[in-house]
Amino acid sequence: MSIKQVMVVGAGQMGAGIAQVCAQYGFSVKLNDIADEALEKGKAGIEKRLARSVEKGRLAEEEQQKTLENLSYTTDLNEASTCDLVIEAIVENMNVKTSLFKKLDEFAPEHAILASNTSSLPITEIAAVTNRPSQVIGMHFMNPVPVMKLVEIIRGLQTSDETYQSIKDMTEKICKSPVEVNDFPGFVSNRVLMPMINEAIYTVYEGVATPEDVDTVMKLGMNHPMGPLTLADFIGLDTCLYIMEVLHEGFGDSKYRPCPLLRKYVKAGWLGKKSGRGFYTYE
Ligand code: CAA
Ligand code: NAD
Repeated sequence: MSIKQVMVVGAGQMGAGIAQVCAQYGFSVKLNDIADEALEKGKAGIEKRLARSVEKGRLAEEEQQKTLENLSYTTDLNEASTCDLVIEAIVENMNVKTSLFKKLDEFAPEHAILASNTSSLPITEIAAVTNRPSQVIGMHFMNPVPVMKLVEIIRGLQTSDETYQSIKDMTEKICKSPVEVNDFPGFVSNRVLMPMINEAIYTVYEGVATPEDVDTVMKLGMNHPMGPLTLADFIGLDTCLYIMEVLHEGFGDSKYRPCPLLRKYVKAGWLGKKSGRGFYTYE
């Protein structure tokens, strides 16, 4: 199937990045959000990043212009009716995602593929609420999307070979590297990454070290580009907690129990960089 028109649902840090990259590689992209404010913020972020790339000599002005022309913004989900692919990047919550997928199944044309950027939730369960489970797939980008090369591709139980091949081809067209993984909680990326972040939070909770010192140990000791607490703030503490809950519930193993300090911060509205406060404070 040839993919030309793409809709990205959710204009947060992931959705805006996905829309930008797809538009940069020639796809016509509609970015959707339920909130006007989020859409405006997503658009401003894309424009700022493109302008910076031109400034730094990474992007020609002509390409910047073409990318901007490939992008449109809408709060109307009905506009999925002209799309060949919809990539969902909304909150990491099964009920919210399945209610969106039911609507997308109604609005998107019969041939369209519905992909989810979920970090951890079962694709099989999301697919099951639609009448096209063979055309539902996980397309898991990494943050920040314009920089990170990986896309984990997750097949649900009923995902067809044709759908898989179209998404693999699309991933390569936008210059990312696909890795196919099975549909298990957290897939590979977050099954390995998130318990490390959760353990780092435990070391702060138990008073073993300060957030700064935990991060320094992992940066200087293990050569990680960001310490785990900086990374948790960057990902979003709400998203980290959702992922830990999916792992905990999905495997039924206490080794995945979310740290109480993570819960406390999320309850306080300390969601990390996007809310201005997490383990660190941001302007
Ligand atoms: N969006 C877009 N581009 C960004 C960016 C952002 N938020 N942050 C940085 N960049 C780009 C910029 O192009 C920047 O170059 P310029 O300053 O010249 O424009 C370039 O990255 C390098 O940035 P910096 O010099 O400011 O900082 P850095 O060298 O430390 O790199 C980083 C930044 C690439 C984010 C690096 O710190 C890093 O790799 N961190 C770890 C990221 C990571 O682990 N991501 C995976 C998270 S887990 C996930 O995504 C899955 C999930 O489901 C939760
Ligand atoms: P975010 O909070 O930055 O953005 C989510 C956006 O979705 C918000 O703008 C919100 O208004 C919008 N939204 C919520 N419900 C909606 C609906 N029904 N219709 C349209 N828009 C809706 O979140 P994010 O960090 O971009 O994460 C989005 C998804 O990507 C989650 O599933 C997350 O697990 C996954 N993900 C996140 C990261 C990360 O590092 N943050 C990495 C990979 C995957």
